[in-house]
Amino acid sequence: MKKIGIIAGSLRSGARSRQIAAIVSSMLGEGAKVIEIGDLTLYNQDLEKNPPAAWTAFREEIRAQDAVLFITPEYNRSIPAALKNALDIGSRPGNQSVWDGKPGGVISLSAGKMGGFGANHVLRQTAVVLNIPMMPQPEAYLAGIETILDGNGALKDEGARAFLQSITEAFINWIERF
Ligand SMILES: Cc1cc2nc3c(=O)[nH]c(=O)nc-3n(C[C@H](O)[C@H](O)[C@H](O)COP(=O)(O)O)c2cc1C
Repeated sequence: MKKIGIIAGSLRSGARSRQIAAIVSSMLGEGAKVIEIGDLTLYNQDLEKNPPAAWTAFREEIRAQDAVLFITPEYNRSIPAALKNALDIGSRPGNQSVWDGKPGGVISLSAGKMGGFGANHVLRQTAVVLNIPMMPQPEAYLAGIETILDGNGALKDEGARAFLQSITEAFINWIERF
């Protein structure tokens, strides 16, 4: 059974990305878990002399995963700063990146019609340098997220459920290659 770490890009309690992360986690089954990034101090290289406990715990947690799946909203055509911070923390010290060679995937979302296209591809850009082989196809852009999820974070759109199921199946096939 592959261990899959799921990271949601938004920190707010009612975040749609966190709700999708929970849904996708249950679709992926036992090996999947959501990994939190909200308590990570902003990356500052000075802190490497005595890294914050949350950095060390996060690095160990990611290192223990076979794969990572990112669920990210779009913030100003990019990924949220919290997600970039987590990527940066995991990437250091230089030769000890926890991302190196770990297969990944991205599901982006937005309330509007573009489904977080900007965030999705900004994340792919960073994945290249981190050597995270990102599943190229199928791409996953969840547009109109408010029409997909109800007020409690449950899927209210059967088409979206089938789509997410197809994405998770493709993702499992993708990470089996590594
Ligand atoms: C700071 C900020 C910037 C945003 N920028 C974009 C954007 O560039 N494109 C977009 O489609 N939506 C944008 N949104 C809307 C979010 O994608 C939308 O609110 C989404 O549901 C937030 O994710 P969450 O529900 O997981 O917190 C932005 C929201 C915030 C808070």
